[in-house]
Amino acid sequence: MSSYDVIIIGSGPGGYVCAIRCAQLGLRTACVEGRETLGGTCLNVGCIPSKALLHATEMLHQAEHNFAKMGLKGKSPSVDWKEMLGYKDSTIETNTKGVEFLFKKNKVDWLKGWAEIPEPGKVKVGDEVHETRNIVIASGSVTAPLKGVEIDEEIVITSTGALELSKIPKKMVVIGAGVIGLEMGSVYARLGADVTVVEYLDTVTPGMDMDVRKQFQKLLSKQGMTFVLGAAVQEVAVRNKKATVAYTIRKDDSEATLEADAVLVATGRLPYTDGLGLSDLGVETTDRGQVRTDKHWKTNVDGIYAIGDAIAGPMLAHKAEDEGMAVAEVLAGKAGHVNYDVIPAVIYTHPEVASVGQTEDALKEAGTPYKVGKFSFMGNGRAKANFAADGFVKILAHQETDRILGAHIIGPMAGDLIHEICVAMSFGASAEDLALTCHAHPTYSEAVREAALACGDGAIHA
Ligand code: NAI
Repeated sequence: MSSYDVIIIGSGPGGYVCAIRCAQLGLRTACVEGRETLGGTCLNVGCIPSKALLHATEMLHQAEHNFAKMGLKGKSPSVDWKEMLGYKDSTIETNTKGVEFLFKKNKVDWLKGWAEIPEPGKVKVGDEVHETRNIVIASGSVTAPLKGVEIDEEIVITSTGALELSKIPKKMVVIGAGVIGLEMGSVYARLGADVTVVEYLDTVTPGMDMDVRKQFQKLLSKQGMTFVLGAAVQEVAVRNKKATVAYTIRKDDSEATLEADAVLVATGRLPYTDGLGLSDLGVETTDRGQVRTDKHWKTNVDGIYAIGDAIAGPMLAHKAEDEGMAVAEVLAGKAGHVNYDVIPAVIYTHPEVASVGQTEDALKEAGTPYKVGKFSFMGNGRAKANFAADGFVKILAHQETDRILGAHIIGPMAGDLIHEICVAMSFGASAEDLALTCHAHPTYSEAVREAALACGDGAIHA
C-alpha cells in the first residue's frame, strides 16, 4: 500500500492537469486511469482526434474549392480513408504519450486500472488499496442514451464510433445539431457523405447567440448539409446494415423517416461516476447525476473533491482544466479560483464558431442595458484574400459603462480570436479599451477591433 497527498481519479484534461499542478505544488500525487493511454475522452476519442479529422477534411475542402481560384491547378487530392484514420491515430498517440511524459517529468504516479473509493482516504485500484489525504473525482462523461435508439458503434454510432467508421457512409443522419453533431457532420459532409441533421429545437447549437446560430446554419447548408429542425427522433431501426430514423415534426405531430448508412447520436453527454461507490460513501449527486460540490469543488464528504464533466457547468475540456488547476491550489492551501463568466466555447467547423460571456437574448431577458458592435469579415482584407470572409464578430458591451459583456464570432480562426476578448473581459475591459489597442494589419484580429470600434463611434471598414 502506498500513500499520497492526493489521488486523482481520471486522466482527462481535468484530471491530468490537476495531477501535474498538484505535483508542481509539492503534493505527493497519483492519478488513476483505466484506459490503456492517458488523456481521457478528449485525447483518445474526443477533442483531439476529431480535430485531426476536421483539419484533414478542411484541407480537402480548400483544395476542392479554393486552390484553383488561387492559381493552384491540378487534380484535387483523393481520400485514402485508412491513411486519414492513421493520421488521426498518430495524433492521438503523440498527445497521450505527451501526457505520460509530463507525468514522469512531474513525478505523478499513474495507477493503472479502474478506481473505487471504499472509504474516504482510500482508493482501491485492482487488488491494491492506496491511502490518500484527498481524492479528486475527474471521471468525465459518457454519451447520453436516447430512448428508442440502440448504439452498435458500427451503424448507429456515438462520437467514438464516428472516429473509426470502416468506410465513409453514402448517407448519414446526425441526431442533434449541437457541437458534436455539427463537427462530425461536417467531417463526413466534406468527405462526400450526404448528411442530414435532425434537431429537436428550431435552430442549431442551443445556447449560442441567435445571430450566430442563424448564420451558422446558413453556411453549413451552403456546404451541403441538410437540416430537419423542430423534429424529435423517436426510434432508429437497423435492418440489413441500413438504418431507418423515425422522427416526429413537433409543430404538427406529423411523422417521417430517413434512411441512412450511418446514424450519429449526438444528443448530449452525462456525467460518468459508475463503479466509484459514491452512493455508499454518501457523496451527494444531482438528479442529472452530477457530483454536487461547493465553490471550492469539495463534495459533502471531507477529503473528496470533484471537477470537470462529472460536476455542474459546461462539459468543456478547458473548463475542466481550469478547475483541475484551481482545486490543486486549494489542496495545497492556496486560493484556487475559476472565472465562470469568462469560459469560451468553440465549434471547430469551417468557419469556426466561438463565444464567451452573455448572449444578446440573455442580456435582454436580464434587462441589462447593452449595445452591439458587429463587424463582417467581408470588411477584413486578410479574410477576403484567403476566401474566408463568411461571418462576423459581434461584441456586446454595457450601454452605460462600455464594459464588454459577451462576444460571438463566426469566421476564420474564431476559436483563436475569441481569446483577446476573454483576456479583456478578465480584466474588466471596455469595448473602447479593445478599440484603442493597435492591431496588426492585415490580420483576422482586426475584425475584433472593428467590432469594438462599432460599439463606439463606428467601424472604419464597414
Ligand atoms: P449538445 O448538448 O451540444 O447538443 C445536443 C443536441 O441534440 C441539442 O441541440 C438537442 O436539442 C438535440 N436533441 C436532443 N434530443 C433529441 C432528439 N430526440 N431528436 C433530435 N434532437 C435532439 O450535445 P453534444 O453535441 O452531444 O455534445 C456533448 C457535450 O460535449 C457538450 O457539452 C459539448 O459542449 C461537448 N463537446 C464540446 C466540443 C467543443 O468544445 N468543440 C466538441 C464536442 C463535444
